[in-house]
Amino acid sequence: MARIKLKDKTFVPYIKYREIAKAIDVVADRINTDFKGTKEVPIILCVLNGSIIFTGELLKRLKFNCELSSVRLSSYVGTMSTGVTKMVLGLTSAIKNRTVIIVEDIVDTGKTIVDLHNIVLDAGAKDVRVCTMLLKPEVYRQDVKLDYVAMEVENKFIVGFGLDYDQLGRNYKDIYILEEKK
Ligand code: IMP
Ligand code: MG
Repeated sequence: MARIKLKDKTFVPYIKYREIAKAIDVVADRINTDFKGTKEVPIILCVLNGSIIFTGELLKRLKFNCELSSVRLSSYVGTMSTGVTKMVLGLTSAIKNRTVIIVEDIVDTGKTIVDLHNIVLDAGAKDVRVCTMLLKPEVYRQDVKLDYVAMEVENKFIVGFGLDYDQLGRNYKDIYILEEKK
């Protein structure tokens, strides 16, 4: 696993795919336990684009009937959150009276997840759960409950496994962290 260069920044290895996959196994087991025997068909809501790889990996492990839907929001420019969530692509299916599991790549300030949680409730969902691959616990200070968290990370900028720096880096199988300047 060598370092990678994306535009003006260099990133070094941080979390290997093997470790990510194990964490996804564990979180999927928890969701499977909670939804075992359910008569409902929950909607797995992929938050594009960052969550696309995580959602695919998670979906393969779910053992109950579910549907896939997507939404696209954006609050990041470069490595900084702008604090303004834009809905770039609306909900791709009706969610009235449905159970929705929002699947995020990473929760940082929580602005995105709070806004999306409201959007999903406003669209009439009866039960909204949140599943995130990564959480920066030092930063998150919101009331929305994060039901399923696969891994916690320090408050540093990371890329790979769906996460990007200015749209680059999503394709890497491992997760990389911004190199510290010496
Ligand atoms: P929040 O609204 O501050 O919680 O930011 C959430 C969104 O910002 C995530 O869905 C990511 O798309 C993006 N984001 C947050 N932290 C990182 C990071 O370390 N690398 C890449 N994208 C990030
Ligand atoms: Mg995102």
